[in-house]
Parts: sequence; structure tokens; C-alpha cells
Amino acid sequence: MSLTQIAIDTLTRNDRGGFTIPTNGLYPYQWNWDSAFIALGIATYDPVRAWSEITSLLEGQWPDGMIPSIIFRRDDPDYFPGPSRWGKTPGDIPSTGVSQPPVLATIVRQLTSTESEDHRAKRAQVFAQIFAWHKWYHDCRTYNGIVATVHPWETGRDNCPEWNIGLDLMTVAPDLAPYTRMDNKHVDPRFRPTQEQYDKYLTIVAFGESVDWDQRRLTDEGPFLMADPNIHFVLLRADRDLLAMAQGLGKSAEVLREIEGWIAKGEAATDYLWNEDLGAFTARDIRTGTFSEGFSNCSALCFYADVGSPKQRARVIENMRRIQGQVEHLLPSWDPEAADFEPQRYWCGPLWPQMNYMTALGLSECGEEELAGQVRDGLCQAIEKSGFWECFNPLTGEGCVGSDFSWTAAVWLSWQHETKIKGAA
Ligand code: GLC
Repeated sequence: MSLTQIAIDTLTRNDRGGFTIPTNGLYPYQWNWDSAFIALGIATYDPVRAWSEITSLLEGQWPDGMIPSIIFRRDDPDYFPGPSRWGKTPGDIPSTGVSQPPVLATIVRQLTSTESEDHRAKRAQVFAQIFAWHKWYHDCRTYNGIVATVHPWETGRDNCPEWNIGLDLMTVAPDLAPYTRMDNKHVDPRFRPTQEQYDKYLTIVAFGESVDWDQRRLTDEGPFLMADPNIHFVLLRADRDLLAMAQGLGKSAEVLREIEGWIAKGEAATDYLWNEDLGAFTARDIRTGTFSEGFSNCSALCFYADVGSPKQRARVIENMRRIQGQVEHLLPSWDPEAADFEPQRYWCGPLWPQMNYMTALGLSECGEEELAGQVRDGLCQAIEKSGFWECFNPLTGEGCVGSDFSWTAAVWLSWQHETKIKGAA
């Protein structure tokens, strides 16, 4: 059977009726940015079903505009931390209390790119909700003009060593309620975050619950406050896509001005994440100003967001070339020369499909075709060797953590589709 057919079958098997889970067992709910990438993949063979991936995600939106990282449509005892650990959340459907990288506007714009009535109606259908989510990021998740994050889970890069600076400043809540991890029952614990990290993740959750998920308070007073290049660059690009949609839909001057303000703010904040010693965009602890010390797989998303000076971009490329000499498959999630690199442990080294997708797209748009192709090949060759895994060991291409993974299948389908279209042109 072709890999393309296996990818379609994977997405069909993970379909739970209107939404798709990332993989059976380990992740039994709808995840925020997973669904956006999944929509991109499903759109290559079933645009109607792809659209419901987006509208079902929007059903989880909170009254304050936030779209949570996970939507719990039922309570699955096989997953922790599920709805009971997050407590009462204000959306119509129980959920987590933090968000995820807002890639949705970019993907909606891509999926509705023509001026057909259907595409225009779809953009109009979701515009207000996506606008409210971006507004939430700019109003409730911004600290001193910088879009912040309050939880490593919000960044989508759970245990990346970047977060150690912020986690080291935290103490585990002395009254943290006991719990049993379920992730380690599904997969090899060597691939997953450590116990101390987990205790701190749950300490932040307990804090959020203690302030009734008041997001302004969680940002201002919570135990963890860092800036994440992933959220920063993804949001900046998504703000531009939102602006284009607003213009196309004839939104008011006031709405356009507000989005333009967000874009200007994002562009101005980009230098805050520039780590001159390393020659890379890295995470930074907002309270202490400390930079993380490694090139991650979102350091090169400056191309995707189309920002960074020529000098900064040249140094980013230099770092990628250096790292390329140390791995078989670009782009590892953590610098192989940095402390804490572990090629199989989740965000401490493995390459991630959705990150390769965004990085390659940005590089290609900025004229770095050769490197873009190598980033695409890094993932495609790992898939050809091992199948549709959640992430891959960058030294060997072996699959890590979850198998039969939805966004891996989706990225594969999206790239195959693009190649077909280019070939036909
Ligand atoms: C992990 C990843 C996160 C993803 C989720 C579901 O928590 O770190 O980015 O959204 O799994 O696939």
C-alpha cells in the first residue's frame, strides 16, 4: 500500500466524528494546533470533512476568546491530566486552561484561498472567533508588550530544555494533590518528560484553577512566565493572515487598525527574542530576562513570520548548517551541541513533523530553497523509513513516542499534494 493511502487510513482511523484525535491511546481528545494541521491534510482528499475539523475546534472557545489546548468531550480515564484535574473551565465544553500556538488563521486562509462564494462564506463564518482568540493573546497573554506563555504545554513544545530556566525558578506546590501519570503507561518513559517536570506542570495547573482560570491573573501572577519564539512567530504570521482575511471580507477600519497594531507590536518584539551570543531566536524568561541556550526547531521560524534582519537570518542559516553536520535528519528540536540534548526524548532532540512543515515553508518563501528541501527531506525520509510517528530520532530516523500519528500523516499528504499540483502546472 502507498504511504499516501496509509496516511489517509491513519487519519480515518483517528476520526472521532467531526474531529480527529492525534493518536489512539496516548492522546484521546481533540488538540488545538493538531486539528489545524490535520485539516490541511484532510483537505487534500475531503474538503468538507477538513472544514469540520476547524469548526469543531472552535466549539471549545471560551467566552474570553481563548481556544484551549485540549477539548475534553468526554472523560477518558486513560488520560491524565483530564477534565477533573483542570477543574471548572468557562467554555461550553470542559477543557484545559491554557492555549496552544495559534496556527489556525494561517491554515484557514490557505484552505479558503479562492474568491469563490463557498470560500468567502467559510472565512466569514469563522473570522470573528479567530479574531477574538488573537485579541485574547494580545490582551490577556501579553506582558510588557511581549506575548508570553504561562505553561510549557501552551507552547506545544512540552519538555523542550528551553523551559528549564522558567521551571528552575519554580517550586512544586507543597499541597500538590497526588496523581498517577498515564503517558508513561502508553509509551516508553525514556521518551517522556521527567517526574519533576510533571510536578511543576501540575503546579501551574493548580494555580490556574485557584484563580478560577482568570487568564490575566494567570499571566501576571502565575508561577511561570516566558516568551516563546514558536508562539511569537506563529502568531505574527497568523495576524497577517487574519488582516488579509479582514480586508477581503470588508471589515471596518477599526478592526483593520487593531490587527495592524498587533502586527506592529509583533515586529517590534522580535528583537526581544534575539539571542546575540547564540545567533538565534530563543525562548526567554520574562521576569529575569535570561535567554535559553540552544537552537531549537522554532529558532528558524523567523522566515515563516518573515522577520529578522539580513544579519540575523544569515546567522540562523549558519546555525542550521552547523546542526545539519551533526544529524541525519533535520531539524532536531534541540541543538545537538547543547546541554540536555537527548535524541529520543520528546522535545529534547527529536524532529517534529509540523515544525519541519512550517520551517520549510518559511525558508522556501524567503528564497532558501535548498535548505527548505533538506528540511522537507529530513522528515520524508524518516517517514519512509519508519512510518507515521509523532516525532523521530534525528540521528537515525527511528520513530518516537506515538505511532499512527495524525499530523505526521497530514503533513505528508499536504506535501504530496503540493508536489502533484506543481507537477501538473
Ligand atoms: C504533545 C505535543 C503537543 C501536541 C500534543 C498532541 O503534548 O507536545 O504539541 O499538540 O502532544 O499531539
